Amino acid sequence: MAKLHLGVLGSGSGSNMQSIVDAIEAGTLDAEIKVVLADFPDAKILDRARKHNIPCQFLDCSPWKTKLADAAEENCIKILKDAGVDTVVLAGFMRIVKPKLLEAFPNRVLNIHPALLPAFPGVHSWTQALDYGCKVAGVTVHFVDAGTDSGPIIVQKAVPVLEDDTPETLHARIQVQEHIAFPEALNILASGKYRIEGRRVRIG
Ligand code: GRF
Repeated sequence: MAKLHLGVLGSGSGSNMQSIVDAIEAGTLDAEIKVVLADFPDAKILDRARKHNIPCQFLDCSPWKTKLADAAEENCIKILKDAGVDTVVLAGFMRIVKPKLLEAFPNRVLNIHPALLPAFPGVHSWTQALDYGCKVAGVTVHFVDAGTDSGPIIVQKAVPVLEDDTPETLHARIQVQEHIAFPEALNILASGKYRIEGRRVRIG
């Protein structure tokens, strides 16, 4: 077991970061969040971090909307390294991270995606699942590689799609599982009892 030193990147409400904070505070996850970065100055994830006295700051990623500008990426790596981060958690971070960040934290960048990958990568995946007529949807926590939502899978959780679901009700059901899946995946990392063999993450 090795305590995780986490850096969390987010763009929105931060409910996934909250689930990690809650697991740490409950003593069910051996980790410390060293720093939280958000690409919007008023992102709620920053308020949540402040409430728990976790160092946090706005990461200016302009001029791009969907990726990290080179300067922002370098700044991001520096902040994470200076904070003593060994594991980077993308918790609703709506930007594609680039190779430099992945190289700075090899096999230590995790993402959560609200779909059962490889189905429905990209945005609004719960709406994609609903529109496709899926009877089952879910969430995936995976290592990040150079692709989009394509790295080796650590944890998946499924939820039923109900007859009267709207995108909102389905997303809410998926989010309940997200908040279980992320701490679970981080516990696997902390245990050290896993190995990555090609696409497969062998646990135990
Ligand atoms: C989650 O649905 C996550 O799966 C997706 O973005 C959303 C972030 O939610 N990548 P939150 O900011 O953690 O509440």
